[in-house]
Amino acid sequence: MAAASCSSKVRLATFVLLLLGCLSSGSGSAQVPLLLWSSDSLPPLASPAAGHITSNDQLTVYLAAALGSGPHTVLLFLQDKLSKDDFTIFGGVFGNKQDSAFPNLEAALQSSASSITVPALEWTGSSSFPALFQETLGVSPVLVDPETLSHLTINTSVNNLLLINLPYCTGSHKSCKEVLQDNDEVIGNVLSAVKAKDVPYTAIYTGLQPSRVISEASVSEQSVGRSLLATAEADVKAPIMFNVSGNPCIMLWAQNLSVSLSSSGDWIDLAAQTPSLDRSMCNTTHSLLVLSYPEALS
Ligand SMILES: *[C@@H]1O[C@H](CO)[C@@H](O)[C@H](O)[C@H]1NC(C)=O
Ligand SMILES: *[C@@H]1O[C@H](CO)[C@@H](O)[C@H](O)[C@H]1NC(C)=O
Ligand SMILES: *[C@@H]1O[C@H](CO)[C@@H](O)[C@H](O)[C@H]1NC(C)=O
Ligand SMILES: *[C@@H]1O[C@H](CO)[C@@H](O)[C@H](O)[C@H]1NC(C)=O
Repeated sequence: MAAASCSSKVRLATFVLLLLGCLSSGSGSAQVPLLLWSSDSLPPLASPAAGHITSNDQLTVYLAAALGSGPHTVLLFLQDKLSKDDFTIFGGVFGNKQDSAFPNLEAALQSSASSITVPALEWTGSSSFPALFQETLGVSPVLVDPETLSHLTINTSVNNLLLINLPYCTGSHKSCKEVLQDNDEVIGNVLSAVKAKDVPYTAIYTGLQPSRVISEASVSEQSVGRSLLATAEADVKAPIMFNVSGNPCIMLWAQNLSVSLSSSGDWIDLAAQTPSLDRSMCNTTHSLLVLSYPEALS
């Protein structure tokens, strides 16, 4: 978080935060994130501009390039629901890496030969990842869990599509963090089983649908929305939200937003004030968040 410091008291306490790369642009369309990593090298994915949404066609073209030639063993970790917010809220985002619900996933990404991250993949409601991979690889998915996988013989001279279904916290008596931690454990165990067989693999972690379509949140699934928010509130403050046509386009979570207007001055806690977001904007390529704190001058 940028702590701006202005010596001139005349200057408006306006803080321009250019948030690049990590924000989604808000056309109100639904997206899921997708992580892909491999024990082999992957072709590069043209990195999307800030706020860019990767289309299903772009993904199909990429998968054909990455998996089209030679036999591949693909591990598809398909969670019932997943949104970028799940990483923001449960990924130890404030530097509290020990709090992360995804230690195995993070370790796998770091130790893999190559990995790509698709922060926002278009989700149309009819997208079907198993079908997409089935088409790319020309084989049917085999449903596995860590237990069955350890007994499974994988023929590495043909394509293999191993599907691992993971639950989300919707309707679960466990908290979202616990469910995601359990899923991370499953991911870790599956990867260990595959490594023990010395099988080269390409793994994907994504969601069957977004966990939060914020504009539609808690309309049809009230109890879900409530439990999700209850969990979020316990760990994280509500985000500063900039909306376009009623849908969030920029969300800023900050543990502490404090500024000092002079070198010797006291810190002003901006969290105690409500900013105006008047000059913020979003379009398909740019996301600009302008927080104006008129009271910070007094
Ligand atoms: C693996 O698949 C290939 C191609 O279908 C086949 O020729 C080979 O016998 C299989 N190997 C094993 C160990 O099943
Ligand atoms: C932005 O949209 C969200 C979700 O629709 C809503 O909860 C929030 O109150 C809106 N904020 C503003 C400033 O309109
Ligand atoms: C926020 O950060 C400032 C500057 O580091 C510090 O003085 C202040 O105590 C912090 N406030 C909270 C609520 O953590
Ligand atoms: C988005 O806004 C930026 C900054 O105002 C501008 O430079 C860019 O051309 C806009 N892009 C589109 C697609 O409108």
